[in-house]
Amino acid sequence: MSLLAQLDPLKAEALAALAAASDLPTLEQTKGAFLGGDGKFTALMKQLGTLPKEEKPAAGKAINAAKLELEAALAARRAELELKAALPKEPTDWTLPGRRRAVGKLHPLTQVTDDIVRAFRKVGFAVADGPEIEDEYHCFDALNTPADHPARDSQDTFYVGDNSRLQTPGAKLPLLRTHTSSVQIRVMKSQPPPIRIIVPGRVYRRDNADATHNPTFHQIEGLYVDKHVTVGDLKGTVEAVFKDVLGSDVKLRFRPHYFSYTEPSLEIDFTNALVKKLGKDWLEIAGCGMVHPQVFENVGYDPEIWTGWAFGFGIERIAMLRYGITDIRLFYENDVRFLRQF
Ligand code: DAH
Repeated sequence: MSLLAQLDPLKAEALAALAAASDLPTLEQTKGAFLGGDGKFTALMKQLGTLPKEEKPAAGKAINAAKLELEAALAARRAELELKAALPKEPTDWTLPGRRRAVGKLHPLTQVTDDIVRAFRKVGFAVADGPEIEDEYHCFDALNTPADHPARDSQDTFYVGDNSRLQTPGAKLPLLRTHTSSVQIRVMKSQPPPIRIIVPGRVYRRDNADATHNPTFHQIEGLYVDKHVTVGDLKGTVEAVFKDVLGSDVKLRFRPHYFSYTEPSLEIDFTNALVKKLGKDWLEIAGCGMVHPQVFENVGYDPEIWTGWAFGFGIERIAMLRYGITDIRLFYENDVRFLRQF
C-alpha cells in the first residue's frame, strides 16, 4: 500500500486511541505507540526517505499536517485528563454549609478587665504596671504593714527561693505579690503627684482552690493623689465605674474596716438583682480608704500637702457577678465549651 494510502487510516486509529485513553498514564503509552521512537507514525515518517524524489514534497506535507493534528489532539486530551485528575473523586455537594474559620476571642476575665479599664479611663485614670515577683518592701513595709502582720506569713505568701531562709530573722526573700497595692509604692516613688492610676494584674496567695478561691487571681488597684481629695470623690468614682460595668441598678455600701495603708479604711459591699437572686443582700467586693500619711512619708510625698484614696478589688468576683458564674475555677480550666459562651 502506498504511504499516503496508509496515512489516513493510521491517523484515524491514533486519534481514536488518544480519545479512548481514560487516564494520563494510558495517554502517555498511546503517545509512545504512535509518536515514540518505535511508534507507528514515526515508522511511516521514516518511509518518506524511500519515496521517489517527485512524490516526496506532497507526501512530506501530508505527513506533517497529520502529525500536527495528532499533537494537537494529544495536548487537548492531556488537558482534559489533567483536569479530571484534579477534580475530587466524589461528586461535590455545593449545598453543604461552608467550613467556618475558627475565630479566637478574649477570655472572659480579659473582657471584664478591659471594660473596667475603659470605665476608669473615661474619668481620667491611666493604666500602670508592676512586677509580679516583688519584695517585702513594696508589698508590705512601704504599705505600713508591720512585720508581724499575718499577710506576710508563709501561709499566705509564696516566697521565691529557699524557704528555709525565712527562719533567719531579717531575711528578705523575693515573693509573689499578694496584692496589686505594691504598684502604688512603685508609681509614687517614680513620679511626683498628682497621680490617677489603675493597676490590673495577677496576684498570688497560698489559698487552696475551691469554688471562690484560687492561688492565683486578678485584682485592680486604684490610686488617686492630689490636693483636697475626699472620701466623697472615692465613693462617686467607684460608684460611677461599677454602674458602667455592671448596670445602673447597682447599689454600693461602704463599711468601716482596717487596712494598714489607709486611714480611714472602708470595705465596699455591692448589690444588684443578681446578688438578690443568689439569695444574698450584699456581697463584699472591694477594700479602699484614704491613703495613710505614713505611706506618703514612705514614698517621699508631704502628707501635709497631698491627700489621696486607694482601692483594690478582685476581677474574678466581678466577672462571676456579671456572668452568673458560681465556681471561680472555671476561669482557669480553659475548657472551650465554657469560654465560648462569653
Ligand atoms: N490590697 C487589698 C487586698 O488585697 C485591697 C485594698 C484595700 C487595696 C484597700 C487598697 C486599699 O488600695 O486602699 O485585699
